[in-house]
Amino acid sequence: MFCCRELILYLWISLHQVWPKTVEDGVLSSFRSICGEDGVSLGQAVREQHGKDESVHRCCPPDVVVFPRCVEEVSALARVCHSHRLPIIPFGTGTGLEGGVGAVKGGVCFSLRKMDAVLDLHPEDFDVTVEPGVTRKALNAYLRDTGLWFPVDPGADASLCGMAATSASGTNAVRYGTMRENVLNLEVVLADGSVLHTAGKGRRPRKTAAGYNLTNLLVGSEGTLGIITKTTLRLYGVPEATASAVCSFPSVQAAVDSTVQVLQAGVPIARIEFLDDVMIDACNRFSSLNYPVTPTLFLEFHGSERSLEEQVSTTEEITQSNGGADFQWARDAETRSRLWKARHDAWYASLALRPGCKAYATDVCVPLSRLPQIIVETKEDLIENRLTGPIAGHVGDGNFHCVMVVNPDDPDELHRVHLFTQRLARRALAMDGTCTGEHGVGLGKRSLLCEEMGDPAMRAMQSVKEALDPLNLMNPGKVLQPGGPGDAQQLFLHLD
Ligand SMILES: *[C@@H]1O[C@H](CO)[C@@H](O)[C@H](O)[C@H]1NC(C)=O
Repeated sequence: MFCCRELILYLWISLHQVWPKTVEDGVLSSFRSICGEDGVSLGQAVREQHGKDESVHRCCPPDVVVFPRCVEEVSALARVCHSHRLPIIPFGTGTGLEGGVGAVKGGVCFSLRKMDAVLDLHPEDFDVTVEPGVTRKALNAYLRDTGLWFPVDPGADASLCGMAATSASGTNAVRYGTMRENVLNLEVVLADGSVLHTAGKGRRPRKTAAGYNLTNLLVGSEGTLGIITKTTLRLYGVPEATASAVCSFPSVQAAVDSTVQVLQAGVPIARIEFLDDVMIDACNRFSSLNYPVTPTLFLEFHGSERSLEEQVSTTEEITQSNGGADFQWARDAETRSRLWKARHDAWYASLALRPGCKAYATDVCVPLSRLPQIIVETKEDLIENRLTGPIAGHVGDGNFHCVMVVNPDDPDELHRVHLFTQRLARRALAMDGTCTGEHGVGLGKRSLLCEEMGDPAMRAMQSVKEALDPLNLMNPGKVLQPGGPGDAQQLFLHLD
């Protein structure tokens, strides 16, 4: 009898170890009563789809996915999670690159795609408020006839609230700024279900000197402080005209010197993208182009017809004085879109260098003047360690990506990639830069964040976290808490 009880206990424990911790039935029925029968999913496929972003981090499915339809439902769901101490993981489009959505501690994924309304467009004030299901392409489609657009473009068609949560940017940031410069207000649901407006409810002044900047605190918080349920964004007038150019350089230094001088000359350049010789070679092959295989700049100019001419001729002069050759520029939409398509396809072009391999993009950012040195050293490091890593950079911001193309079945190569990316981040830190310019900290860069910030700043971040989320329910295990299970090592072991 006693023996039998022990056996049952043993079975009970082992079942619970094998199966994910399930959410109690009572909790599930509360969820269903809040967001409807079809607003709660326990299906394995749905959970797996919500346990992973576009990075190489292992899939960590949540125990359950909920699909709220409005802020009241988000708040009610959060209150249930709070009283049952269940982790909450906000989910937009899953296009992140640092493992930010994995449910490393289990819990409830809040998929926000049903909240997809564009609210409160104020064309005369150049602002708009959107719900978390609205992606940047959807917003720009909505704005099509207004003469306005939202420029921040991280490549993927990410949700705007997710972009705020990760402080996203992209090719346009040199002219229009990142999400940090373009968010005016956020509606945020905290872990206990309370609803907060970071700049005061409904407010959207262009500037303010009122109190601490909570908006900036939430931008880049990666779901660890609250769930963003609305964001108010700055908009811009669609430029009257656009031109693009390509130019080849004898060295990385010459390309970066040209960039610095273009910015110093006050050219309001909209995009200035650097591709190293390996990347331009990959793009040539992939997109059937034939640019010289040397460091290259892709440029884009926005403005009136008159100002474009001036911008282009100033830039051409500068590039020539730095040994730039083959300056080709284009006004027609077709040539321009072919050029930028090649840039946007750089990821696939990199992958095509080694068929059957996987790609992993890492990102650092340094003061502009350090860019030539870090790129040159990084290229030497790649060669020494027999790694394929074409480089593309938002050079006007000192930000670049190394697209690591790696054979997932080669543990030795995976290890070399891991060590390489750590060295790259530390090289950026040693040059007064940051371990991530736009991808975020997520899971993989937590210990680098500590090195970057130092103890007092990390303690301040920890105190902020404890003040807003004392039970550590909001996306636990991300950004803070280095060295725990899942840090660094977990990366690269599961390239699937
Ligand atoms: C506060 O932060 C937001 C988001 O980063 C930014 O857009 C805004 O300009 C900041 N406000 C002030 C007054 O600095």
